[in-house]
Amino acid sequence: MNISILGIPMDLGAGRRGVDMGPSALRNAHLSRALRDLGHRVTDLGDVRVALPESIDKHEEGGLVFLDPILEACRAAAEQVAALPEGTFPLTLGGDHSVSMGTVTGNALRGNPAGERTGLIWVDAHTDYNTPRSSPSGNIHGMPVAHLTGLGDPRLAGLGAGWHMRPEDIVMIGIRSVDPHERELLREAGIKAYTMKDVDQLGITRIHEETMERLGHLKRLHVSFDADALDPGVCPGVGTPVAGGLTYREGHLLMELLSESGRVTSMDIVEVNPILDTRNQTAEVMVGMAASLLGQRIL
Ligand code: ARG
Ligand code: MN
Ligand code: MN
Ligand code: MN
Repeated sequence: MNISILGIPMDLGAGRRGVDMGPSALRNAHLSRALRDLGHRVTDLGDVRVALPESIDKHEEGGLVFLDPILEACRAAAEQVAALPEGTFPLTLGGDHSVSMGTVTGNALRGNPAGERTGLIWVDAHTDYNTPRSSPSGNIHGMPVAHLTGLGDPRLAGLGAGWHMRPEDIVMIGIRSVDPHERELLREAGIKAYTMKDVDQLGITRIHEETMERLGHLKRLHVSFDADALDPGVCPGVGTPVAGGLTYREGHLLMELLSESGRVTSMDIVEVNPILDTRNQTAEVMVGMAASLLGQRIL
């Protein structure tokens, strides 16, 4: 397979600094080499240009921190991804999770004359379904899914120029932190979310089966993997850690099963924060997750 790597070194959507170094940390953990070793052709497209927080003022507008530069970076990411040839697998590296407003939009619109719908598998401790009004923090990385479905600020929700993700085409896995108003919005939208309780009770195998069935009508599936979905013991280098996450094996098993399904067409790795990490462990774990999704097998 042809894989194109694109970094979006942005931490403007997060409450603390550091995830802008995520793409570097992942490259340092030999991402390209790991994928080449699996037989893929890998092209690293470098990074999208992102404004530095030190060089701009932290304007907050209608409950949104750093709206303009985030919008700009997401637009650039969407354009670059949308321009990739069909058949190429885009592997996009955050950055905070707000980058996925750009990457998911770019993937959904990429080489898609028939207007095929794209499914979204959101692997995360958080549902990231806040709107500017429901958000307790104003941090845009807590809002990407809401904006992808058309809620919230019209500029962010307008990245797809009229395209929106359908709530029924989204499945979330690993959830254990949801804000009070965010919970109501999720219910209203009817988005399927597997919490950690579901992971404990059903197991990843069953959750994967149900996810494939639920998204069975879709030809394209995007996996957006927030490193904080994994337990902080496995991935300590994240800005918003939540106890009780996916184990190392649960993460790999999910990626292995998704890989075997042969249906995933693009992936994000986001929220890796090297400043908070232990010797780049989080980046190394996430490179392993990408490798499992892209065909690595134990035997
Ligand atoms: N729910 C919180 C908020 O909206 C935390 C979001 C964390 N999101 C993330 N992508 N790490 O501020
Ligand atoms: Mn997230
Ligand atoms: Mn998260
Ligand atoms: Mn819109």
